[in-house]
Amino acid sequence: MRKKFICGNWKMNKTAKEAEEFARNLLEEDLGDKDILIAPTFTSLYPLKELFKAKVKLSAQNLAAYDDGAYTGEVSARIVKEFCDYVIIGHSERRNIFLEDDEIIRKKIKKALENNLKIILCLGEDKETRKSGGAYDFVKNQILTDLKDFEFNKDNLTLAYEPIWAIGSGEVCNREDAQKMCAFIRETLGSLFGDLKDEIRILYGGSVKGENAKDLLECPDIDGALVGGASLKADEFLKIINYKEK
Ligand code: 13P
Repeated sequence: MRKKFICGNWKMNKTAKEAEEFARNLLEEDLGDKDILIAPTFTSLYPLKELFKAKVKLSAQNLAAYDDGAYTGEVSARIVKEFCDYVIIGHSERRNIFLEDDEIIRKKIKKALENNLKIILCLGEDKETRKSGGAYDFVKNQILTDLKDFEFNKDNLTLAYEPIWAIGSGEVCNREDAQKMCAFIRETLGSLFGDLKDEIRILYGGSVKGENAKDLLECPDIDGALVGGASLKADEFLKIINYKEK
């Protein structure tokens, strides 16, 4: 049984003060044993760690493809690990704006694993690829290229299907298509990792909000959400966390 995993990716938003305010608002709610994660900017990891303790997990949004050394502006997996257990790798914004290719992504995965960081690997096609019917081949290729020859367990790998056209657009992928792609991702994982595929969590990301969370999260192969914009306000993020009670 895969436990639902609700993750917020803050991207380049919030000062440390604003992050603390969010944390205090979130913690006013009884979160029980729900599996919740926030990926803030690097500068907010420390204050959030102090406030969240074990109640909310923390993730970096990125890490260097290198060990500590002369790489101005970069943050290594070893340094990140001091504050959090997770790291997002391969977000489409990193792939497209910062031109991270599969080779860089594999180097980052290697560094994360060497430093016991758990990986949230993002996948997803753009609009043209979806329209031309190439989405499944595209995502399959991302999985096979990025993950082949690595060893994972059920805890240190999470996948996030984030169709690029649904990110920040308000155009959410409908539940049938999202479920179909997440089931396909699981099947593809099976070709690399066998039965482990049934234990690895697969998230959906792209315009998830309080109002559409239930629809998506009830799908059998969607094990959680990776939320951008709607994770920036505690009350909206809480609606997603508490989607079952809606
Ligand atoms: P939005 O929820 O703002 O569409 O962003 C999704 C995302 O990119 C999360 O990583």
